[in-house]
Amino acid sequence: MIKNDLFLKALKGETVERPPVWMMRQAGRYLPDFMKLKEKYDFFTRCRTPELATEITVMPIHQIGTDAAILFSDILVIPQAMNIEVEMKPGVGPWLPNPIRTAKDVNNVIVPDIEETLGYVMDAIKMTKQELNNEVPLIGFAGSPWTILCYAVQGQGSKNFDKAKKFCFTNPVAAHQLLQKITDTTIAYLKAKVAAGVDAVQIFDSWGGMLSPVDYQEFSWKYIQQIIDALKDEIPVIAFGKGCWFALHEMANSGASALGVDWTLSARNARYLSGGKITLQGNFDPSRLYSPPAEIKRMVTQMINEFGKDSYIVNLGHGILPDIPVENAKAFVDAVKEYKAN
Ligand code: CP3
Repeated sequence: MIKNDLFLKALKGETVERPPVWMMRQAGRYLPDFMKLKEKYDFFTRCRTPELATEITVMPIHQIGTDAAILFSDILVIPQAMNIEVEMKPGVGPWLPNPIRTAKDVNNVIVPDIEETLGYVMDAIKMTKQELNNEVPLIGFAGSPWTILCYAVQGQGSKNFDKAKKFCFTNPVAAHQLLQKITDTTIAYLKAKVAAGVDAVQIFDSWGGMLSPVDYQEFSWKYIQQIIDALKDEIPVIAFGKGCWFALHEMANSGASALGVDWTLSARNARYLSGGKITLQGNFDPSRLYSPPAEIKRMVTQMINEFGKDSYIVNLGHGILPDIPVENAKAFVDAVKEYKAN
């Protein structure tokens, strides 16, 4: 049994004395100890070495006190395992030297054997579970097929993923073939993570909001739904779609246990659009962590009052920014722990 089960209770919609809190991208970036490891080992070495991935995963538990851990890894290990080369260029971010641009490129993409290509992730999960000693739950994750396609086709980060959209709209048959291969790989990958011991999984659709509501259904949601269908009877699934407020109704009826929302909608609108029953997770503006700690605490208390303490997981509306002072991240978490329902 996990000692701090607030997060798991919130996922089930059970009554809690206060909501649980964790932060997207909490493992890394803004933590000084992480930066020291970053000087010594490159990104994928950190991902592929279970001892390093474990050490980074537990850092925010010990240093910030979040109620859940998220495994240190990246959504782009999936395209890597599918025969698409991925580099992480310091100062640039993801870099794919041979992006997917044609139907022939899609044919060369494989649906890999998970143990063979991503066994190191399962080793990191098993080691992290031991290290956590049942103190807090461990979250596993994957990118949504659409978000992975964005990087696989664009070849790097982008403000609008124009090349990815062009590929989908000029070559929809090949795009759907690619999305299905990513979906099949992701389902096998998340099932392996569940077998290795994660307590919940989150699907990051970071770029779903780039699509119109109609295109979102066709190129993103359809595939996320397949993943939820395959996992929901085994483990709680959190679906996070940045900018995807227009799809909240559909998402709320998908079998997901919780929905992540960004900071562009009010708690009231998020509850309204999602039908008022499902657990919501979010939605503090990550830039608001630049505010002084006292102001952060005031705003977090207000956010909890607006969402309500039950069926709610306190989080940011997207990943924590790299230059947030550790004491500000701590103020965010402390405000939740000090919360008293009024
Ligand atoms: O939550 C956690 O801290 C767990 C680890 C985690 C990483 N990436 C580590 C990482 C998670 C959950 C991710 C998810 C991820 N990766 C997403 C979805 C969430 C989101 O932010 O939208 C996306 C889009 C990526 C792709 C990616 N990886 C980008 C765009 C970058 C470069 C920019 C950046 O974030 O610094 C990465 C690199 C990356 N992934 C780093 C970390 C800690 C920084 C690089 C490094 O440490 O060398």
